Amino acid sequence: MGFSGMRKWVWLLVALILGAGVQSVTFAQQPPAANVRVAKASVQSIAPETLVPGTVVSRNDAKLAAEVTGRLLEVLDVGTQASLIKCKDGSFVLLDTCKMSEDTLVELDKLTLNGDLLKAIINLHPFHTASVSEVHKLYPTAELYGTERHKLVLPDLPWQEMNSEDDALHQHFAQDFDFLVPEGVDFVSDNDNVHFSSVLVYHKASKTIHVDDTLMFVPMPKLIGALGMKNALSFHPTLTLALEKHPDAAFEFEEWVNNLVDRWGGAKNICAAHSANLIDDGEGKSVPERILKALKNVKWILIAHRLRYGYSGSRT
Ligand SMILES: [Fe+2]
Repeated sequence: MGFSGMRKWVWLLVALILGAGVQSVTFAQQPPAANVRVAKASVQSIAPETLVPGTVVSRNDAKLAAEVTGRLLEVLDVGTQASLIKCKDGSFVLLDTCKMSEDTLVELDKLTLNGDLLKAIINLHPFHTASVSEVHKLYPTAELYGTERHKLVLPDLPWQEMNSEDDALHQHFAQDFDFLVPEGVDFVSDNDNVHFSSVLVYHKASKTIHVDDTLMFVPMPKLIGALGMKNALSFHPTLTLALEKHPDAAFEFEEWVNNLVDRWGGAKNICAAHSANLIDDGEGKSVPERILKALKNVKWILIAHRLRYGYSGSRT
């Protein structure tokens, strides 16, 4: 072995010694090995989400039709409704306001000649205020009507003097419409979540009832319909909270419904907010029969109210 070969061996030896030293230092700095437990692998969701159908009266008072625990992640806004009516004199009236798609606005402009033929916008539900300003901006020349609450909530809009709930307004538009305001229930509840009441409108020529919330129509999907569940016309689920807190309120409400059925006995269609329209297809029960059925379905609510608040004896 020459000198250079020996030097190579010396460097290798030094490297081995140093390497061992570094290794030993590294081991000395590590914590002791952790105890290891072995478990069977499994798959599970740590943030489960479930789609639950339900009635959400408002974002602050979500009543979900399912017995599940969990957080409400999202409420899909179903919006409100509006009906465009052609009057006998050729002008148009818009009952209520809502968000409108581009296509709907194009159609509305076409029918009303860019708003020239739209003589009035009548807002009928005291708590449906979200789209009032927007629609007024689109059609500023149409007379703007609303309930007393609309005027309190949106005081800067150019409201007409008559309120939607006033007899004077009902007379003003009597040629085309008949109006009814529910009795025995609060028109504007102290509880903002109670949207039961509104001004109901009957368009005489088309035999159509336009109603926000007071009456709801829920069509069943075909699959469920095949299982025997029928499309349902019902009163808004807040009736219990809406009934005025005095004896006779239940009687007054019942009488009001019976009067509606007598007065609008020829009704063929219902345009209802948040749900769907009931259009007469010549099959099934008539609209008045369906309203009476809806009244029958709330009889226990009316009986419970009488038991709680008594009965003055002034009614039969
Ligand atoms: Fe509503």
